[in-house]
Amino acid sequence: MTDDPPLFNNRETRATEGMGGKGFYDSYSAIQRDTVRMQADRLRRAVRELDVSGPELRVIDYGCGPGRNSMTAFRTVLEEIHGRRADLPVVTVHSDQIGNDWNDLFANIRGPDGYLRHAGPVRPEASAGSFFGAVASAGSIDLGMSFMAAHWLDGTIRLSSPGTLFFADMTGAAREQIRDKADRDWCLFLRRRADEVRPGGWLVIETMSAIENPDDPSGLAAGGHRLYRAFWRIAEGMAGEGMLDPACLETFVFPLYFRELHEVRAPLERESDLKAAFDIVELVSELIPNPYAQFLADGGGAEAYAKSYAAFARGFSESAFRNGLFDPSAAGAADADDADRLTETFFGRLEALFAAEPEQHIFDNHSMTVVLRRR
Ligand SMILES: C[S@@+](CC[C@H](N)C(=O)[O-])C[C@H]1O[C@@H](n2cnc3c(N)ncnc32)[C@H](O)[C@@H]1O
Repeated sequence: MTDDPPLFNNRETRATEGMGGKGFYDSYSAIQRDTVRMQADRLRRAVRELDVSGPELRVIDYGCGPGRNSMTAFRTVLEEIHGRRADLPVVTVHSDQIGNDWNDLFANIRGPDGYLRHAGPVRPEASAGSFFGAVASAGSIDLGMSFMAAHWLDGTIRLSSPGTLFFADMTGAAREQIRDKADRDWCLFLRRRADEVRPGGWLVIETMSAIENPDDPSGLAAGGHRLYRAFWRIAEGMAGEGMLDPACLETFVFPLYFRELHEVRAPLERESDLKAAFDIVELVSELIPNPYAQFLADGGGAEAYAKSYAAFARGFSESAFRNGLFDPSAAGAADADDADRLTETFFGRLEALFAAEPEQHIFDNHSMTVVLRRR
């Protein structure tokens, strides 16, 4: 358990209950797909460093989601492991929250892109629970990987944040509070992984990130910042029309934090247990091409672009909006719509905004990779 102040409602309400189910997330996660593909060389390099002389290897994907992108990563890893030792049994552990669409995940594992068709011995497992807690036995993991997941915070957050719902646009005390919260959560994530990864094991963690940008009022180029500003515009408009509770919106914070390189590094150098646990092998930030923006640039048309981009946004954000804004607004205001209708209105308006102003809300995929070796 963390020692977070009551401001952060860690355990009662999850930051996200999982991504859009019934194939929705898989259909609209092209940005995540390309991000995972970019990690193939790093995954291969980590596998080449593993000891393959034992009875089996255990590889885990933290925050795997419904699975399509997880398949890509596991196929790479399995190919490399069995290229080194063809008869080595591999346990593939898929870790996500209990609300994840596990049916989609297992359909993906046995589907045409799944790795059950892979020639070598493999045994899939699922681990349902928050990665801020233990999701694998102590010292059991040889290789841990995580894509587009470790930037989610532990639990929902309420902060006085008028005019924004995005961490980077917060100012004053609210910005400091969310920065401290992100630091504590990163320490928590790393401590659990230090427990789970065996000495000599590896972690390849990719998350969204932020880099300094003096030209932006926030001082940052934070991943996807234009999307979060678009989210705010829609939410503010709906609050103005009485559809969302303005008091709820004023304290609603989208529960993620895109760290700068120094914020990822700091606890690994500052905290004695983490310093003793891990060597930093690589820590890099890069801008990954956005396939939706490319589609627009190639003349794909504003409406098709808007539909895919809004669906991408919905796939990863709906559950956080439901938990933090739509459900409470529907419950609190006498004349409010029900939460389902609020959800449809919100994402419908988002799509219309993207179609009307296609160039203005393009998603910058600032990605960070940290590769750690367990001492
Ligand atoms: C944007 S999705 C990425 C899914 C997949 N890794 C991919 O690249 O497509 C983020 C994932 O992180 C998971 N997640 C967020 N917070 C989590 C937590 N505390 N514990 C476990 N999983 C979490 C979500 O449920 C979701 O499946």
